Amino acid sequence: MTSAFEHKSTVEEIRTHFDANVERFSNLETGQVAAIDSLVHMDVLTTAAQAVNPGATNVLDLGCGAGNYTLKLLQRFGDTPPERVTLVDLSRPMLDRAVARLAEAVPGVAVEAVQADVRDFDFGESRFDVAMAAQCLHHLRGDDEWEAVFSKIFRGLTPGGSLWIADSLAYHQPQVHRMMWERWGRYLEKIDGPEYRDRFFAKVEKEDTPRPLSWQLDLMRRVGFAGPDVLHVNSRFASFGGTKALPVSSVQNRTAPSTNA
Ligand SMILES: C[S@@+](CC[C@H](N)C(=O)[O-])C[C@H]1O[C@@H](n2cnc3c(N)ncnc32)[C@H](O)[C@@H]1O
Repeated sequence: MTSAFEHKSTVEEIRTHFDANVERFSNLETGQVAAIDSLVHMDVLTTAAQAVNPGATNVLDLGCGAGNYTLKLLQRFGDTPPERVTLVDLSRPMLDRAVARLAEAVPGVAVEAVQADVRDFDFGESRFDVAMAAQCLHHLRGDDEWEAVFSKIFRGLTPGGSLWIADSLAYHQPQVHRMMWERWGRYLEKIDGPEYRDRFFAKVEKEDTPRPLSWQLDLMRRVGFAGPDVLHVNSRFASFGGTKALPVSSVQNRTAPSTNA
């Protein structure tokens, strides 16, 4: 890990934390309660992913937790779900829960569960049609790690495949960052009072290193993604995604929408 981040949680500490928190990420009706607009993000992200890649056969969920995003995405495909889902997470208990929930909800879909750090996962080349990363990438530290992971995701997508991210944000301007932090604080306080808010903030301070939305969008463009499009932003949380551009010949063959109607 980059030395500037030595005071932050290690990968082992993050794994231990999530091993003990499976229940918090196992409810499709509430999503992750502590994240503002959690259900909205899950809704727009999975709807957009299915709309952009309606024929997806291979789906990747990075930092899948207990499988909420994959479960929601598979609902979007109705009777023609992708053939295979690859789940990646540091936490074995999270993966076990995700596998069990998927086996019950979509028994026909092949599920591969990989216990790995996203930094080390072998994305291969052109393997996945849709990649999702929800509330996971803010655990990356230095620019080098962000760039390496975004580049590997890009390589691992099929041409025309897409990456969708829902995550917490930092803000460039300290005043705006503080303001957004305070807004989130008021939201957490409403859930379970000031002590809960303070405990949560202490955990975030130790564990997370989020990046500004514009920084992540620039990085996506730099590694090759077309778009990206922002789907929803509310204070410290955003969802957005982009496409691995099709080869030029396929783009040229796209026809304009019909105007005969
Ligand atoms: C906040 S939870 C979100 C889970 C799920 N995506 C959701 O939104 O319900 C973050 C998940 O990312 C996993 N995670 C954190 N850092 C990771 C890393 N470097 N590599 C793989 N998984 C990671 C954690 O174990 C945890 O399950």
